[in-house]
Amino acid sequence: MKRVSLTQHLVEEQRLNNTIPAELRLLIEVVARACKTISHAVGKGALGEVLGSAETENVQGEVQKKLDILSNEILLEANEWGGHLAAMASEEMESIHPIPNRYPMGEYMLLFDPLDGSSNIDVNVSIGTIFSVLKAREGMTTPTEQDFMQSGSRQVAAGYAVYGPQTMLVLTTGNGVNCFTLDREMGSWVLTQRNMMIPEDTQEFAINHSNSRHWHPPVTRYVNEMMAGKTGVLGKDFNMRWIASMVADVHRILNRGGIFMYPADAREPEKPGKLRLMYEANPMAMIVEQAGGAATDGNNRMLDIEPSKLHQRVPVFLGSKNEVERITRYHQE
Ligand code: AHG
Ligand code: MN
Ligand code: MN
Repeated sequence: MKRVSLTQHLVEEQRLNNTIPAELRLLIEVVARACKTISHAVGKGALGEVLGSAETENVQGEVQKKLDILSNEILLEANEWGGHLAAMASEEMESIHPIPNRYPMGEYMLLFDPLDGSSNIDVNVSIGTIFSVLKAREGMTTPTEQDFMQSGSRQVAAGYAVYGPQTMLVLTTGNGVNCFTLDREMGSWVLTQRNMMIPEDTQEFAINHSNSRHWHPPVTRYVNEMMAGKTGVLGKDFNMRWIASMVADVHRILNRGGIFMYPADAREPEKPGKLRLMYEANPMAMIVEQAGGAATDGNNRMLDIEPSKLHQRVPVFLGSKNEVERITRYHQE
């Protein structure tokens, strides 16, 4: 089998579709390299003294794990010097991170969830990194939080790395979704799946069912219908999976279909759901749409939402198209 590296793929994609100029290619390669470093740290576990809590809190009031902070630092450091970025923003940092003056400033803006699935770090279950790339608006000189307030439809690239039995990188630049596997001996990303497509129908759903008493009626109705199986209104049996790492749940859905839900619920009305629009929902929505699936907040297409805050939360429904359309319809009925 002829091996295609990430670099070769990016160069060929630019030649073919003109979607990956050199600066963007550098950005993606640098992010991919940072993910390699994170993967290495994750793989060491206790031997690398990276497990456990850092005993600090992030802006969302969540206790940070050592790996949350380490991954954030790895991504910042890797991306500062290249000249391709104007600023970065992260789930783990309260405000944006402009590129220091000593480096040239580029036109892209990078957002990331450095370590997704924190509750799984210490129990050796798959975790990941999610990233999103925006372009600075024309004429921007000093980047501010306001410059990041762009809808997901303006993302020029999005991807995630999943640190599981294999380390994989899933990437879109708006021309389909491709998956690369890390060759650990060679230290290189090798293209292993081209044009990933999510089946339109599914018999698998992912939701944290322990929150069911707080759900809103459309979600309760839908999950009850799925649980009713073959003899219920949906006329088929469903299987349930919940890894509690969005990357791992989305990765399964990209490979064999399914619907992923993290709805808003009645617990804290001022917090619409748990997941963050800019670091989790938008990049995953772009990937899922590029693979033929759908993503909404229950009412609107995720990628059309105009953000108002960097750390904004949003309800998430994504995956196999026909099921995402069904739960979105239930919200409207
Ligand atoms: P993070 O570790 O970046 O805070 O994200 C965790 C998210 C997501 O990955 C996952 O789907 C969800 O939280 C799990 O939430 P529950 O613990 O409520 O199941
Ligand atoms: Mn996350
Ligand atoms: Mn995180």
